[in-house]
Amino acid sequence: MQEPLVGTEAGAGAWASDFFGGLNALPPEAIAVLTQVLEAMATQPGFQQARRAMVHELGLAAGSRVLDGGCGTGAALADLAEVVGTQGQIVGVDPTTAFIARARQRAAEAGIPNAVYQTGDVRSLPFSDGTFDAALCDKVLIHVGPPGAVLGELVRVTKPGGRVGALEWQPHFFLSTTRPQLESRFNGVFRQAMHNLCAAANLPRYFREAGLTDIRTHTDLISTDDLDDHPFWRVFVVDQLPAFVQAGLLEAEEGRELAADLEQLGAHGEFRAAFVVVHAVGTRPGVRVDERVPGSG
Ligand SMILES: C[S@@+](CC[C@H](N)C(=O)[O-])C[C@H]1O[C@@H](n2cnc3c(N)ncnc32)[C@H](O)[C@@H]1O
Repeated sequence: MQEPLVGTEAGAGAWASDFFGGLNALPPEAIAVLTQVLEAMATQPGFQQARRAMVHELGLAAGSRVLDGGCGTGAALADLAEVVGTQGQIVGVDPTTAFIARARQRAAEAGIPNAVYQTGDVRSLPFSDGTFDAALCDKVLIHVGPPGAVLGELVRVTKPGGRVGALEWQPHFFLSTTRPQLESRFNGVFRQAMHNLCAAANLPRYFREAGLTDIRTHTDLISTDDLDDHPFWRVFVVDQLPAFVQAGLLEAEEGRELAADLEQLGAHGEFRAAFVVVHAVGTRPGVRVDERVPGSG
């Protein structure tokens, strides 16, 4: 008998992903827009602080080797380079060729030759067990599953005693609008489009199921009262509306009405928006090779 599809976690067993798993088929213009969206997310101060906190909790040191699974355009590069230094190594893996090209360009522009970016699937990494001191994924589990396949690989390639981190957000916006039904339609877009909308809330369970121990999670509320305090807000709640309409996720009239409403609220200082970001860090059980008592094998 087949597993029921309704009422179970999206992609509970099988490998699956949302549109982020098929970006190589998109035209360059669409990739350029997505690159801007990723940049807006990566530089939004709340996301940035959460990512830095996660990187800090990975316990990396100068000379460490770290894996960024689903690295995208290499948004985490500066944060990782700051801790591993020039003697360490940063390896990023992502299937989207245009993102890997951008990540390589980012590393070259920043003068960080010890950052290596390559195409690949985080669920099937081309590295031996225990290659890295730590591994992370940032905004990947919401798009790619199952979580056991993603985290399982991050755990496998991390040294015993090393840490694995994941950062996720739940794109369900607390949003000011004079039209409550449009708030529901807007949040419904993410509910339809994301592979695993609730990944953020389930990180502790995913980490335990992946065999990680000493699991720590931290939840942040990211909020604003200004549509223009960072490009992220306008990019996400206004500029993307036509794309949602084009994808058949919103009616054209709904997109126009919501955009006008949010602009008007913004003009009166009455715009408010917020959402939740969670990061988790856990330890791969075992003793690090470099911490074993000499002669203990
Ligand atoms: C929302 S983006 C996050 C990118 C980056 N971590 C960041 O924070 O900017 C999701 C990323 O997952 C990547 N992705 C999709 N399928 C993947 C897979 N099977 N393995 C690794 N990455 C994947 C996409 O190409 C995209 O770069």
